[in-house]
Amino acid sequence: MIFCYINGSFQEKSEAMISIEDRGFNFSDGVYEVMAYCNNTILNFSKHLKRLDNSLKKLQIPLPLANKKSLKLILKKLINLNRLNDGYIYLQITRGNAKRNHLFPNIIIPNIVIFTFSLEVDNTNILRGVEIGLTNDLRWSRCDIKSISLLPNVLEKQKAFENGFYEYWQIRDNLITEGSTSNAFIVNKNNKIRTHPSNNFILGGVTRDSVIEIAKKNKFSVIENGFTTTDLDSCEEAFLTSTTVGVLPVVKFENKTINDGKPGKITKVLIKKYNDYLKNQINAKN
Ligand code: PDD
Repeated sequence: MIFCYINGSFQEKSEAMISIEDRGFNFSDGVYEVMAYCNNTILNFSKHLKRLDNSLKKLQIPLPLANKKSLKLILKKLINLNRLNDGYIYLQITRGNAKRNHLFPNIIIPNIVIFTFSLEVDNTNILRGVEIGLTNDLRWSRCDIKSISLLPNVLEKQKAFENGFYEYWQIRDNLITEGSTSNAFIVNKNNKIRTHPSNNFILGGVTRDSVIEIAKKNKFSVIENGFTTTDLDSCEEAFLTSTTVGVLPVVKFENKTINDGKPGKITKVLIKKYNDYLKNQINAKN
């Protein structure tokens, strides 16, 4: 049996049900988080919780639990019920069920759904690096909210797959914002790491923030002021970050090869340091 958690109870995943009047279903009126876990440790938990809290506040949706501690207990119980050593947790909170109307209802109870899933991690991508396409950013101006409304991201990811790219990096006002499922970084000729600032045009990635902290701790210079396609042409290295892939080297943009098509030196250091940082979290709990 595979369990999920839905509005206060653990249920068999294939039998769990949500109302057709759920506002997430009707309006994408909700938020989500994807967290990784390993050896019963939820990785980067406090950062995920903080972002969830921010996303909920921005949409005026209350956390449908007694407190934040109870969320951790629920997640741990779900992991144990599903007897998985490592994998991912999907958590979604929507405004709740109501007669279809764009206006928020006066009284409404949020819906919370949590399930676990596993992913095949493709090590060849980490060893060899991936190819990225470039496209205009079609999304709204509140990308900082981890909203379940992901249609532009879904379409971009599909288009990338069909065109042989890992994903597209998106361009808004000449600056690369981020990928459809990850944050974007380059390393320039002076060994400076560059990425878009954490504002309303990108999702402030938990992996992004951790990698920036790790890079600074290791005396790398990080500039959060964005970069253009011209900067891509002259960069020495590039990589992307997300919870599901960690730090992933980028070796080509459209027809432009980076670093002779090999993952860069600084990128490799950051992959190792990020993995150590996760291992420390796992060991601290054991
Ligand atoms: N996506 N930017 C976007 C648009 C994303 O969808 C994601 C993650 C990130 C990276 O955020 P983090 O480091 O916190 O995972 C950046 C998740 C994994 C998803 O939708 O499946």
